Amino acid sequence: MLNIQLSILGLVWSALGSDVVRRQSLNNATLDSCPGYSASNVQNDGSRLTADLSLAGTACNAYGDDLTDLRLEVEYQTNNRLHVKIYDTAEQVYQVPESVLPRPSSDNVDAIDAALSFTYTKSPFSFAVKRASTNETLFDTSAASFIFETQYIRLRTSLPSSPHLYGLGEHTDPFQLNTTNYTRTMWNRDAYGTPWGTNLYGQHPVYFDHRGENGTHGVFLLSSSGMDIKIDDTDSQFLEYNTIGGIVDLYFLAGPSPAEVSSQYAEVVGKPVMQPYWGFGFHQCRYGYRDVYDVAEVVANYSIANIPLETMWTDIDYMYLRRVFTLDPERFPLEKVRELVNYLHAHQQHYVVMVDPAVAWKNNDAYSNGVNLDVFLKLLNGSEYRGAVWPGVTVFPDWFHPNTQTYWNNEFASFFNAENGVDIDALWIDMNEASNFCPFPCSDPEGFAEESGNPPDPPPVRNNSGRPISGFPADFQPPGTTAKRSLSLRQTNQSTTAIGLPGRNLLDAEYMIHNAAGALSNLTIRTDLTNYGGTSQYDTHNLYGTMMSTASRDAMEARRPGRRPLIITRSTFAGAGTHVGHWLGDNLSTWEHYRVSIGEMLEFAALYQIPMVGADICGFGDNTTDTLCARWATLGAFGPFYRDHNGYGSVDQEFYRWESVAEAARTAIAIRFRLLDYIYSHLWRQSKTGEPLLKPMFFQYPEDANTFPISYQYFYGDAILVSPVTEENSTSVSIYLPDDVFYDYYTHERIEGNGSWVTLDNVPFTTIPLHIKGGSIIALRAESANTTTELRKQDFVVWVAPNATNQAEGFLYLDEGDAIEQPSTSEIQFSYNDGEFRMTGTFGYETSSVIKNVTVLGGAPSNGRYQTQSLSATIDGPIELTGEYSASL
Ligand SMILES: *[C@@H]1O[C@H](CO)[C@@H](O)[C@H](O)[C@H]1NC(C)=O
Ligand SMILES: *[C@@H]1O[C@H](CO)[C@@H](O)[C@H](O)[C@H]1NC(C)=O
Ligand SMILES: *[C@@H]1O[C@H](CO)[C@@H](O)[C@H](O)[C@H]1NC(C)=O
Ligand SMILES: *[C@@H]1O[C@H](CO)[C@@H](O)[C@H](O)[C@H]1NC(C)=O
Ligand SMILES: *[C@@H]1O[C@H](CO)[C@@H](O)[C@H](O)[C@H]1NC(C)=O
Ligand SMILES: *[C@@H]1O[C@H](CO)[C@@H](O)[C@H](O)[C@H]1NC(C)=O
Ligand SMILES: *[C@@H]1O[C@H](CO)[C@@H](O)[C@H](O)[C@H]1NC(C)=O
Ligand SMILES: *[C@@H]1O[C@H](CO)[C@@H](O)[C@H](O)[C@H]1NC(C)=O
Ligand SMILES: *[C@@H]1O[C@H](CO)[C@@H](O)[C@H](O)[C@H]1NC(C)=O
Repeated sequence: MLNIQLSILGLVWSALGSDVVRRQSLNNATLDSCPGYSASNVQNDGSRLTADLSLAGTACNAYGDDLTDLRLEVEYQTNNRLHVKIYDTAEQVYQVPESVLPRPSSDNVDAIDAALSFTYTKSPFSFAVKRASTNETLFDTSAASFIFETQYIRLRTSLPSSPHLYGLGEHTDPFQLNTTNYTRTMWNRDAYGTPWGTNLYGQHPVYFDHRGENGTHGVFLLSSSGMDIKIDDTDSQFLEYNTIGGIVDLYFLAGPSPAEVSSQYAEVVGKPVMQPYWGFGFHQCRYGYRDVYDVAEVVANYSIANIPLETMWTDIDYMYLRRVFTLDPERFPLEKVRELVNYLHAHQQHYVVMVDPAVAWKNNDAYSNGVNLDVFLKLLNGSEYRGAVWPGVTVFPDWFHPNTQTYWNNEFASFFNAENGVDIDALWIDMNEASNFCPFPCSDPEGFAEESGNPPDPPPVRNNSGRPISGFPADFQPPGTTAKRSLSLRQTNQSTTAIGLPGRNLLDAEYMIHNAAGALSNLTIRTDLTNYGGTSQYDTHNLYGTMMSTASRDAMEARRPGRRPLIITRSTFAGAGTHVGHWLGDNLSTWEHYRVSIGEMLEFAALYQIPMVGADICGFGDNTTDTLCARWATLGAFGPFYRDHNGYGSVDQEFYRWESVAEAARTAIAIRFRLLDYIYSHLWRQSKTGEPLLKPMFFQYPEDANTFPISYQYFYGDAILVSPVTEENSTSVSIYLPDDVFYDYYTHERIEGNGSWVTLDNVPFTTIPLHIKGGSIIALRAESANTTTELRKQDFVVWVAPNATNQAEGFLYLDEGDAIEQPSTSEIQFSYNDGEFRMTGTFGYETSSVIKNVTVLGGAPSNGRYQTQSLSATIDGPIELTGEYSASL
């Protein structure tokens, strides 16, 4: 039955034309018959090797046409980084523009000194990368013939069996990747509910291959093309890139420790940008606040509940008919929004709103300003390309256009004007995959927008709430009758090579990646559009969100020069961390999403170098519960970006809605705040060296195989092991303690880990289990506070957690917290060696805060021997943070 159907269909296909037949009749035999390439003209100067690669037989033309002439370029860039690039001799094939991802320079080291070695076979051409110290093979492309076609590249490497692989985001699959029958598709998309096994919002084609005592290495494919990366063990274990464009541009990172791979990756894509100190405060947001009074009420309620709210956010609700750069004149009148922002600022709090890339078509200034500067993407016939998003029919900025930055800066400067506009402190950018609600081919965006009800009618205007908002001035209060107010706010170089092979089908690659949205152009910007400068959306789709991020950062810096703009984006590409942070998109209020968020957070912070990351706490879609929200309030406090955000129509989930959640939040925020300088120091270190501020368990114990699959426990900074309860309604959790010394965070009790699982019982919903790793020194604020501004005035205390040999170390970075260029900083190292405490470093940052005391956890040393009882030894302060210090116990 099946066979008959297939052959009938085959006849139909052949009637449809040769392209269709080629795709449908394609089988593994065809791919196996691809001839590969042979290398000639090999030049090798000891640090750089080049060769010509020519098609080694009859073209197989599997998913396009085989390219006949390629060029191989191998560079020993540093002792730990090898670059292998294969591209077309004509340099027409698209390459990621340097303007979007600047390339690292090469030190041209001698191959003899390098940690990685490159070897190759001439014909059929294949190459291998080995770890020089052991000759262990890390990457070997002889696993299948290499295919380089107009719209398809296949490169397969063999791997050892059951490898430990991490990365290849963005995804919600297990943190340690599946290695059989597994496909990771990369094609950025608006992925409501962040479903497992599908392509999500961002593209990070880097993986970490962890081989226990043999070390860790990283492999980064610098490509913005749509792709499937297949990992399977049919015949033998392999990982295979299947891209629909671009070139082979691989960076091999030698490690050998996982954290060193992170740092080496940061050298390629750029080190993450430093964030403002206050950005680590607690943020509240939701989609569906009806008006400015709703927003104010939430601010007031947090204060009444005594939960430190640092920053209030507003989703698209503030916009007039959901148009970017407008305010709803009735629900969010400018004057009231300004009063709200002034109120927040007067209380050391902050305000953030969302901006989307899609601009409402016609009848608004953002549109006409953009038309005047010619910045919107166009169809091939020159007319503007239109889709449909929140405001109905929209156009989309072309981030490659030289006027777009000016356009964006102007819109920001006027709408977010501190004197007479919405004086935001940070920025939230969304929908930048880019999302388009109108399914391909979207031939009638107006009809579609109308049918889908965008923009919807705004909610009714408040008449008389009868509820004065506590703490806000009398003239701010919701009126008995709303005064109608008119909207007063706004009357207000390109390379010509490698921009893409001509003659391709830019709507439809014959190799179909497993895009969960179907066609490449579906629910996004059409892929056959040409950007300014000649590249096409087909090749640059995955860069859209990151280019918007960069443009938005520039616009924020222009409107508030010299200060660090916190920017959180949904769509990212490799290197986005150099400009922005990321929230994990539209998750759901379920325990599964709570659990998955941990691994995702680790990936972004530790693997992709986007450390300012966090999930929507308590979940975005669906309805949360008190127990889920309480646990998530504590978990979120131990991630970098800490924001409660909720979807339209879901039950309210501000932390004060339940007393248990309020208590959980107060407790967790108090701990987070006391540790804020510790984590800020770790972000600073990551921005300097790439060493991640969150560490998966295997980063700290790379030779302990039990840690490799662990994704529910992790290190917050180098010292604090976080072990959240992960099961619904449970008050116990099984945690892994490696063979090391630990201290209970709350009791300071010393615990000898011995590489086994331990069950913690009676963990209340208001608590999260925390342990301090032996060998660490932590500087904490002596007290918490209601805002980060107040927190900065608190003194410090220092906790010393000695390791098995009675030593410990730690560090503290201090600066003014908000300036891009810091006038003076302190970089302080702490050490402890068998009773001897020392503080060294530089002490440029002036502070009146002192170290009140130094406590050695778990027992005092006596006669050079360590006592294991739960005693503490204390050095009484004050110790000024102005110079070196040492003391003996
Ligand atoms: C190709 O081979 C794979 C694995 O052996 C198999 O699952 C798949 O069905 C084959 N595809 C075709 C078109 O024969
Ligand atoms: C690795 O292989 C090279 C070339 O065969 C050889 O010269 C070298 O001694 C080997 N190194 C180790 C550590 O085995
Ligand atoms: C492989 O995965 C696909 C889809 O994820 C599934 O349909 C198929 O059954 C799996 N095959 C095997 C052999 O597990
Ligand atoms: C990964 O493997 C797990 C465990 O075998 C399985 O439950 C899950 O469906 C797999 N996920 C994907 C995306 O293949
Ligand atoms: C490390 O390499 C050795 C020698 O190749 C091998 O026997 C061992 O299994 C490797 N260990 C791991 C964890 O991969
Ligand atoms: C586009 O996405 C919609 C919604 O998922 C789906 O129904 C439709 O089939 C897709 N269209 C194409 C051309 O892929
Ligand atoms: C969430 O709760 C609201 C209010 O009770 C209800 O209207 C809505 O259907 C619920 N949503 C889901 C997904 O259960
Ligand atoms: C968790 O507790 C809630 C409220 O008591 C209950 O409705 C739910 O069924 C429980 N879930 C499980 C998995 O026991
Ligand atoms: C926060 O403010 C409340 C009310 O003013 C006060 O009672 C509380 O002590 C403050 N908390 C901290 C940690 O400063």
